[in-house]
Amino acid sequence: MNIGFIGAGHMGSAMIEGLLNAKTVVPENLFVKGGSSGTAEVLQKKLGFQLIKEYDAFKECNIIFIATGANLVLEILKEAAPFISEETILISVATGHTVEDAQAVLGSNIHVVHAIPNTPVSVNAGMIGAVFAKEMPDAVKAEAMHVLESLGKVEEVSESLLGTFGTVAGCSPAFVDIFMEALADGAVLEGMPRNLSYEVVAQMMLGSAKLAIKTKKHPGELKDGVTSPGGSTIKGVTALEKNGFRYAVIDAIKQANS
Ligand SMILES: NC(=O)c1ccc[n+]([C@@H]2O[C@H](COP(=O)([O-])OP(=O)(O)OC[C@H]3O[C@@H](n4cnc5c(N)ncnc54)[C@H](OP(=O)(O)O)[C@@H]3O)[C@@H](O)[C@H]2O)c1
Repeated sequence: MNIGFIGAGHMGSAMIEGLLNAKTVVPENLFVKGGSSGTAEVLQKKLGFQLIKEYDAFKECNIIFIATGANLVLEILKEAAPFISEETILISVATGHTVEDAQAVLGSNIHVVHAIPNTPVSVNAGMIGAVFAKEMPDAVKAEAMHVLESLGKVEEVSESLLGTFGTVAGCSPAFVDIFMEALADGAVLEGMPRNLSYEVVAQMMLGSAKLAIKTKKHPGELKDGVTSPGGSTIKGVTALEKNGFRYAVIDAIKQANS
């Protein structure tokens, strides 16, 4: 399979790393066109993919991802359109446009997917929301799914939900990073070495997420299982509530989604 990329910034590079990790594509069959800052060139030295300057190589690609800033997507697709064939699947991971917007530029016969990933795709543990063009044949959809699923879990959603999906799945890793840093700061305050604190916190987050996914238990039930009467955990929960923890998190999603 040949895969093309337009844009190798934060999200593009995370996806490229994930696709290579999963061996969904080998470096010789991965064609990447970067912008003007040299970011793609630096990444190419590390990962060994085919760095391209023109769109010609896209004629041979089964799937092309576009991962540029939202304001550039439709303009770039207009430039690339002559090199995108009817057999190609175009997957845009950029915000700010719809499947129909992309098809208006490329032609309604082009298979378009609008997918919003998050940075854990680089370690194949992403959460991806995807909207498929209405008329997409099942076999084409299955091919797109196969590639996206090599990067993590994929949920098909409506275009109207994709923005909120992107906020929750795409922005929250930063909120979780802050939470992890704060937990580790707390551990350091109590005398635990810094590096050990980060390791403990990250493994705890991974384990808590796995437990929630595997048991499908309500988060409140999982929390109740840790809080013994009069114990230390409920004291910590009370401190979080006193400091408006839930409201802070809900408001973060609301502000990020506005
Ligand atoms: N970051 C996330 O967690 C995340 C999550 C979900 C969706 N997204 C979406 O993904 C898109 C990219 O986000 P990002 O965070 O990766 O931004 P970014 O780091 O700024 O990356 C955008 C890349 O596009 C490149 N580019 C600009 N013009 C180009 C052109 N004509 N041809 C090829 N490449 C070009 C830029 O290259 P130069 O800098 O070299 O010019 C840059 O590396 C955005 O639309 C964003 O909304 C991001």
